[in-house]
Amino acid sequence: MSDTAFKKLQAQNPWPDTKGVTPWNFTLGGGGRHLVDTLINVSECRYMLEIGCFLGASARRWLTLKSDLKLVGLDTWDDRLIEQCKKYVGRPGLTRAYPDIKTQERFASDIERQGPFPTAMANLTEFKDRFVPVRGFSPGALPDLKKAGFIPDIVYIDAGKKAEDLEVCHQLWPNAIITGDDWHWNRTKGFPMRKIVTGFAEKNNFRVEADHATWVLYK
Ligand SMILES: C[S@@+](CC[C@H](N)C(=O)[O-])C[C@H]1O[C@@H](n2cnc3c(N)ncnc32)[C@H](O)[C@@H]1O
Repeated sequence: MSDTAFKKLQAQNPWPDTKGVTPWNFTLGGGGRHLVDTLINVSECRYMLEIGCFLGASARRWLTLKSDLKLVGLDTWDDRLIEQCKKYVGRPGLTRAYPDIKTQERFASDIERQGPFPTAMANLTEFKDRFVPVRGFSPGALPDLKKAGFIPDIVYIDAGKKAEDLEVCHQLWPNAIITGDDWHWNRTKGFPMRKIVTGFAEKNNFRVEADHATWVLYK
């Protein structure tokens, strides 16, 4: 893929103003991301798509790993994330990241005051030339990325735990390595993402490697 498609998406998806916006590099990711690090480091990966970026912590991780990696991030970044972030106050994920309750409350109030989208982009400002934020729903927004000529080498899925995300990505970009999060989520719900990934792998003849939350599909 040439850089033309990436530049086209950059022009179509402008960044919000992040002046004075406080970044929060908080991730909901659950471990095993070294599998994705390895994919990025050892493959010829130049272009990557992340579905489900939240505050940009995983995107930061991928972009920090490789200086010429270009990433398109698809997320709604809608206001439902504000209520979600408020619910994290006092709960283990946020408590581990920010043990002080005052910091947790500031986290939730910053997301509400600043908005999820500017807060996420403030976390990625240093990668402005290598990250394109696409606001929309997966899988509906994916064909437009293909229409713009975008061809990712790796697709990382960390969004709504839906089989369609995998199916549409594979249809649009059959040569992309598909990987994602939520393998470990959630025992009481019967590990829905694990079922989706293994079902997809069986149907399409892939092998699955998984560690903690992370899974990778190999041909
Ligand atoms: C678990 S969080 C992503 C965490 C992020 N990858 C990280 O490690 O910091 C899930 C994100 O997926 C987004 N999301 C959920 N369903 C989506 C959909 N259908 N299309 C686009 N984004 C979606 C949510 O807005 C949320 O920001």
